[in-house]
Amino acid sequence: MNLYVFVAYKMPTLRNPQDPYWRVVTTQMPSPDLTKWVTDRVFRHDKNSPGFACLRFQESIHSFQLRQFMVNLKQGLSRLFKQSYGEELAYYSLGRFDQKKTTRLHLDGAPACAFLMLGYEPSLVKSQFLIADYASCAQEQTLTPRQFLDQKNPMFNETGQSNLKAYTQIINEWDDSESRVVIINNGSLPSGQPWPGFGVLHGADILHVPDSNTPRIINSILFTPKSETFTESELALNTFLETDAISGQIL
Ligand SMILES: [Fe+2]
Repeated sequence: MNLYVFVAYKMPTLRNPQDPYWRVVTTQMPSPDLTKWVTDRVFRHDKNSPGFACLRFQESIHSFQLRQFMVNLKQGLSRLFKQSYGEELAYYSLGRFDQKKTTRLHLDGAPACAFLMLGYEPSLVKSQFLIADYASCAQEQTLTPRQFLDQKNPMFNETGQSNLKAYTQIINEWDDSESRVVIINNGSLPSGQPWPGFGVLHGADILHVPDSNTPRIINSILFTPKSETFTESELALNTFLETDAISGQIL
C-alpha cells in the first residue's frame, strides 16, 4: 500500500487551522466576489468545503446597517443558488436576540437544506465561537448527519461531544468589539445530494459578562430553498430591518 495514501486516509478531517475563513468587508453592498467566496465555502455537498464563512467590518457600523448588509448578502446568495440549483432561497426565520449564555454545539431547527446567517453587534461580553464538522464525523461513522444527531446529539450526549472534538475548531481572531457576520451551512443531508446540505454545527462559549445589563446582540436569519419553506412576510423582513426591539432573550 502506498504510504501516502494510507496516511491521508488516516488523517483526521479537521480543517487546516490556517484556513482563511475571514474576509474583511468594506461596503454595505456585498461585492459579487465576496458573495461567490461565501457560496464556495458554504454551499457544500461534501467535506471538501468548510461549510462556513466569517466576515468582519473594517469600520464599526450601526445595527441597521449590519442587518441591511445581511439582507443584501442573502439576496446575492439566493441569486447564485438559483443559478446552480434552479430555486431561490427564502426566509425561514428572522430574529434578534440578546444572547449571553454558553450554547453547546447545535444545529438550528430548520429543513434539511438550510443556511444560517448570524450578525453580531459589537459587545463588551467576551466569547468564543465554535464550528464542528458533524456531517464529516457522521460520515466516518457510516451514519447520516440526521442519524448522528438522533443518536449522539452533542447538546445532550457525551459520546457525541467526545466524537466531535477532532472535528471542532474555535474560530481564531474572534473579536467581540467588531461587527461580524457568520454564514453557516445548517444542513443535515448526507454527502453527494442534489442540494448542498452537508452541514456544520455551531456553538459559543461565553467567557466574561461585565454585568447582566451588558448586551450581546445577535441578528439571525435562516433561509432555505424556496420550496422547503413558507416565505417570511414583507412585514417580518421590514421589522427585522427597522426594529429597535430584541425579539428574544436567551439569558
Ligand atoms: Fe444557533
